[in-house]
Amino acid sequence: MKEHNSSTTARVVAFYRAVESNKPENERICYDPYAHHFISPKISALKKKWLLTSVNMRIYEWIFPGVYAYFAARTRYIDDYLQWCLDHDYQQVVILGAGFDSRAYRFNQFKDRVKVFEVDHPATQGEKKAKLAELFGALPEHVVYVPIDFHTQTLSQRLLESGYNQKSKTLFIWEGVTFYLTADAVDETLAFVAKHSGSQSSLLFDYTYPDAITGTSPLKEARIWRKFAKKKGEPLLFGIQKDMIEQYLAKRGFTQVANAPHEILHQRYLIGINQKRYITPMLAVVHATVKPD
Ligand SMILES: C[S@@+](CC[C@H](N)C(=O)[O-])C[C@H]1O[C@@H](n2cnc3c(N)ncnc32)[C@H](O)[C@@H]1O
Repeated sequence: MKEHNSSTTARVVAFYRAVESNKPENERICYDPYAHHFISPKISALKKKWLLTSVNMRIYEWIFPGVYAYFAARTRYIDDYLQWCLDHDYQQVVILGAGFDSRAYRFNQFKDRVKVFEVDHPATQGEKKAKLAELFGALPEHVVYVPIDFHTQTLSQRLLESGYNQKSKTLFIWEGVTFYLTADAVDETLAFVAKHSGSQSSLLFDYTYPDAITGTSPLKEARIWRKFAKKKGEPLLFGIQKDMIEQYLAKRGFTQVANAPHEILHQRYLIGINQKRYITPMLAVVHATVKPD
């Protein structure tokens, strides 16, 4: 990521979430009532209103096929898993590369029982904090904001000095980030989670496959994504071989790997009115538990 620019890709995901959230309750896959606040401030209120109508869905689908449905299903999958963790005695949640993620403000457990950390690049986090202060009148006190550049700083450096408790049962959420990092930066984060978290802690993230990174994927959306990301200064750097996720995570200290490629997301969330939506096969979500010592 460019040092002083906030993340364009974070704004794009928030935009898609806003479009989905604008649909009637029985039609939408995920719901994030804050997402529309993070659409570029350069866009006028009237244009924003028009952009958010699902009438434009066909255009979005044509530009970037299957990615909109994937973003909606991914967010819902993570929300459901987070809810499960909150119901099962997790004491801390760390949102890595938080971007404009609004879970810290949407789940009430964070306001009393469960500690939440938002870890992100300082440029993106700065923009988010300014908007949150405007929305809530002040920056919410229940969230710990941890600025980091994953390429030059380590999580242990940054989190441990921010009040993170390495003995607590923790969920790490890493949504839409791994592909923008080097393999070494991903490894370092996984090593931190595996070594510095309480018993039964878990990690959830999504990943792409190597052909999206190398530009050899036959998918239109993979080619567009690669080009767009590079142009915006967030090039695609990291993928994990399809069908190798379990071995990959086992080697790095994780067990109980639950992989959700596009077929599972489709089966679970693209139902009813959403059944015919195309979901891109170039990404998958996975969660796993830290292996006991
Ligand atoms: C596609 S956005 C995803 C944001 C959020 N997790 C979501 O799903 O809405 C990618 C995020 O990764 C963060 N990021 C990318 N490279 C980073 C780096 N080197 N260090 C820290 N954060 C980084 C960006 O700031 C951005 O918030």
